[in-house]
Amino acid sequence: MKFNLTKKVLAWYDNNKRTLPWRVGKKSNNKLYYRVLSEFMLQQTQVKTVIPYFAKFTSKFPNLNSLSKANEKKILKLWEGLGYYRRARNLLATSRILVKRYNSKLPQEIDEIKTLPGIGDYTSNVLAALIYNKPTLAFDGNVKRVISRILNMEVRKIDFKEFKKINKKKIFNTNRNSDLVEAMMEFGALVCNSKTPKCYRCPIKINCKFYKSSNKIKQIKKEMTNKNINIFCYLSKKGEIALTKKNNSGFLNEFNLPKIESIKKNKSFKKWKLLSKYKNSISNKKLNINLYYQFSKDIPNNYSWYSIKRNNEFIPSFTKHIFKQVSVLF
Ligand code: ADE
Repeated sequence: MKFNLTKKVLAWYDNNKRTLPWRVGKKSNNKLYYRVLSEFMLQQTQVKTVIPYFAKFTSKFPNLNSLSKANEKKILKLWEGLGYYRRARNLLATSRILVKRYNSKLPQEIDEIKTLPGIGDYTSNVLAALIYNKPTLAFDGNVKRVISRILNMEVRKIDFKEFKKINKKKIFNTNRNSDLVEAMMEFGALVCNSKTPKCYRCPIKINCKFYKSSNKIKQIKKEMTNKNINIFCYLSKKGEIALTKKNNSGFLNEFNLPKIESIKKNKSFKKWKLLSKYKNSISNKKLNINLYYQFSKDIPNNYSWYSIKRNNEFIPSFTKHIFKQVSVLF
């Protein structure tokens, strides 16, 4: 299975890549800052959502040094609307460590990069490739999907260990590692996407087991995670909803979803009334949601009442949508 996949993907990337504000030239002084900032923002968030936030951030804090001196409240305010606020706190902590301990440079070794707050397997590999041209790939959903289709393997089996095995065959060898890591993500986002892969303009389709299989449509459906979830909202007569907080640190808390449980058709289930059935999606999961409610004085531990009229805190849009729906009950 030796073919020049890397060359083909890189050629595709050179001709088709999007112009994104963090893709600055190799010699830019801000390369590290732009890459760290954008990769934190891109964790769990789409490119098109990140672009305006990236612009806002870089105009207020033009370089790593200015970010490292920023006050957390200001950072969280700028982050408002992006969600997953822990990322903002970790970004600030990481910028401080980079400036103080590493003289505003990124550590060379992936294992050391991984010790920075908010940086796991995925981000450490991306940054090592982008900043130091290290020969690695980062396994986000896009990259896993591309590789799983080429090799006709299950997506969940694709990880770094598997990659090393695959790469013994030297499919992914290049001296353009930095471009390759982005090219694979870009290729997954623009051509080999999950629902409607554009095989008709794929430069590697002759090497792709997925393309050759007759079961394309069936397989696409299998790859997409479909989930049925039940959301149970405790409501008070005063127009409040019981929410739990995921992260209690910091001055602003991120309020999270009302209780999600699997339906158990037992006696206590009778108390719950169905308000609506609707569809939503989070990351690559398609959710079929059943929204239940009950008016109750008692709520479980670690929940607290929250007025659905209050709007000045960090509520994920998913939860806001639920506020809107339950508001018809008051
Ligand atoms: N997702 C995460 N990092 C990315 C990048 N550098 N380019 C495009 N999509 C991404």
